[in-house]
Amino acid sequence: MEHSVLRPQAERRYQAELAALRVWDQGNRKPQNWQLSPKAVRLFILGSREPVRCGGETVAIQKKYLGNDALVERCIITLAGNRGLMLVGEPGTAKTMLSELLSAAISGCSTNTVQGTAGTTEDMIKYSWNYALLLANGPSRQALVPAPLYVGMEKGILTRFEEITRTPAEVQDSLISVLSDKVLNIPELGDEGLLFARPGFNVIGTANTRDKGVNEMSSALKRRFNFETVLPVGDVALEKQIILNEVGALAAAAGITQPLDEEAAELLATTYHELREGVTAEGQRIEKPSAVMSTAEAVSVYYQTLMTAWYYGDGRMDEGCLVDNLVGAVAKESREDMEKISGYFATVVRDKARREGGAWKRYYEARGRLK
Ligand SMILES: Nc1ncnc2c1ncn2[C@@H]1O[C@H](COP(=O)(O)OP(=O)(O)O)[C@@H](O)[C@H]1O
Ligand SMILES: [Mg+2]
Repeated sequence: MEHSVLRPQAERRYQAELAALRVWDQGNRKPQNWQLSPKAVRLFILGSREPVRCGGETVAIQKKYLGNDALVERCIITLAGNRGLMLVGEPGTAKTMLSELLSAAISGCSTNTVQGTAGTTEDMIKYSWNYALLLANGPSRQALVPAPLYVGMEKGILTRFEEITRTPAEVQDSLISVLSDKVLNIPELGDEGLLFARPGFNVIGTANTRDKGVNEMSSALKRRFNFETVLPVGDVALEKQIILNEVGALAAAAGITQPLDEEAAELLATTYHELREGVTAEGQRIEKPSAVMSTAEAVSVYYQTLMTAWYYGDGRMDEGCLVDNLVGAVAKESREDMEKISGYFATVVRDKARREGGAWKRYYEARGRLK
């Protein structure tokens, strides 16, 4: 697939799927102003067994989120109601991905987004002013520069708020009145200063549990959201599949034609899964590193290794290089974690190497690079 930008927004990346689903969707019940029905949104995110017919062609709908199907269904229903949706969980559990996919499917736009940081202000959420116009003509709708909350309300689309708990609590609270009354007050515009939200407007927030306590959400704000906890992938086979899918997409976009090595994906999926859970497949307890052992990290370790093989080597995934990249990913959080990884190799990987040989054996033999 050829794209002229590094990472096109979801509605462009999946343009063909969305178009086919719009055709498929005729006659299904749909909330006002939604581009697709809840059924079609669900299909878009969870994939369809059979390709969808569109004109003379058929389009396969890929499964994009692997894991809890019921969670996805609940998220869609929440967005059709009058409370916001808050996705919480560990980093790298696909909260951002889900929020983008939901917005692309429901509103046809995933870029109406506030990125929460310590420096986020109310202006960046609601609206600000074009000062030249403001000074020349006084406050007017023309001089107003809409921010994502304003845009969402005006157009009747979703507003995404990423990493909401990184913004100061008083700034977060500016959402409260909008979420409960669906109206934004712009005092500068006097009598015309009320923006009523169009149907289709809602807010999807994401928050990392690792940021908990940084800027805890007020209970008043919490009451305006339905919370959904997104858990890490529950099994190794699924995690392996995600690694292969994601790396496959990255490699295709970069023009890397090397077929993917399933064994390497298995090594990584197992390592990440067992270290995250603190217990091996055989039931042995192991020490959990403090670093986030997320699927997203496993994808990036695999892709890093693949690129090294592609640009410097013969294309074959090298277990030594895999270990180097694993060290890079884990050691950025703490040195103590390295001892836990070494411990994992000295016991668990050793046993798997003895039992299964092959890639596990080469992985074990590369343990000297754990420093
Ligand atoms: N259950 C899952 N299904 C599909 N992809 C997943 C899953 N969990 C993690 N991923 C991968 O991890 C990546 C990072 O997720 P992201 O949405 O940035 O996480 P978060 O916002 O929770 O930190 C996703 O783009 C996807 O490649
Ligand atoms: Mg995120």
